[in-house]
Amino acid sequence: MSESLLTFQFDEKVFLDCYWQRRPLLIKAALPNWQSPLSPEELGGLAFEEDADSRLISKSKNGWMLKQGPLVSADFQRSDDWTLLVNGVDHWVPEVAALRQCLRFLPQWRFDDVMVSYAVADGGVGPHFDRYDVFLVQGTGRRKWRLGGWCDENTPRIKHEGLNLLQNFETSEEYLLEAGDVLYVPPGLAHWGVADTPCMTYSLGFRAPTVAALLARWADKTLESVDPELLLEDRASVTNPPRPGEITLAHWNNAREAIRNSMEALDDGSWLGEVVTEHGECAPPPSKHATALRLHPGARVSWQALSNECSVYANGEALRIPLSSVPILERLCSGDTVSPYELTSAHPDFLNFLAMSGVLVGLE
Ligand code: SIN
Ligand code: CO
Repeated sequence: MSESLLTFQFDEKVFLDCYWQRRPLLIKAALPNWQSPLSPEELGGLAFEEDADSRLISKSKNGWMLKQGPLVSADFQRSDDWTLLVNGVDHWVPEVAALRQCLRFLPQWRFDDVMVSYAVADGGVGPHFDRYDVFLVQGTGRRKWRLGGWCDENTPRIKHEGLNLLQNFETSEEYLLEAGDVLYVPPGLAHWGVADTPCMTYSLGFRAPTVAALLARWADKTLESVDPELLLEDRASVTNPPRPGEITLAHWNNAREAIRNSMEALDDGSWLGEVVTEHGECAPPPSKHATALRLHPGARVSWQALSNECSVYANGEALRIPLSSVPILERLCSGDTVSPYELTSAHPDFLNFLAMSGVLVGLE
């Protein structure tokens, strides 16, 4: 693998203005010199691991079958059309994690993981839609992708325990992907990949918090700091006498304004960072003898520059450190190593905070 950073060969600005979360895009030869870092056998080896999130999906005349990992050799001795999928392969294989470099033009906190699949000819996971954006990178072989219509929770599905397949699929576009080609699929768009030859696909997947989760966190944070004795005042809204029993528009607007004022006055800004870094993988604290530290590949770390401080979020926890720590945060979030001394110099609690949040890996 070359030393230079991986980049999709396309116009990022045009993509952001016209395609991101709007329309699919085929990027032919997006990664012309990139080679699949994993062989099918290596992917199969990962699927044997207890801690890897793997599944096998196959289709025969009897219908669709799903088997959750860990898998055993006998699972691969089969004559139907099968696909092996392993989630979070970037947490295991640094060369797979390197694919994240292609997504530098998008917010890192939206990135989820790299799922890798291997399919025998005619294998595929069936027609479906995902709720999140995905870049489908063709690793080896050829796969035919069909795109269908827009779907939502009400779109009819086939009844199957574990699989979420569409009952109807009408092809609107069709592409044959070869190694190095990339297909971007926005959330909610039906897609159906079928292996034209045995092939491997690397899916760079995104995620997004629900607005409900953000709202709930903001409201919870406000409730933690609002004075529980504070009563609703209504001087301004009680002007004209109401009709018996009536809540007037002025009463309602006054109450709404009071809530809005509290939400804004007590907002410490941490609800977004805390929610989007939750549920990262947790590593044990690094050894005291570690001379260099880097982020665990499955950890979720983000930061936010405020007017005169910086908030760091690590697996859902938050800490305020000086604004001068931004360069060290950028290095950590780029996958570089830093020394324990650099962390403690940035802020006395910084090293302990990251270690206890389970986001650090130590090198001796
Ligand atoms: C696959 O790699 O077979 C499935 C990827 C997807 O449809 O999201
Ligand atoms: Co999909």
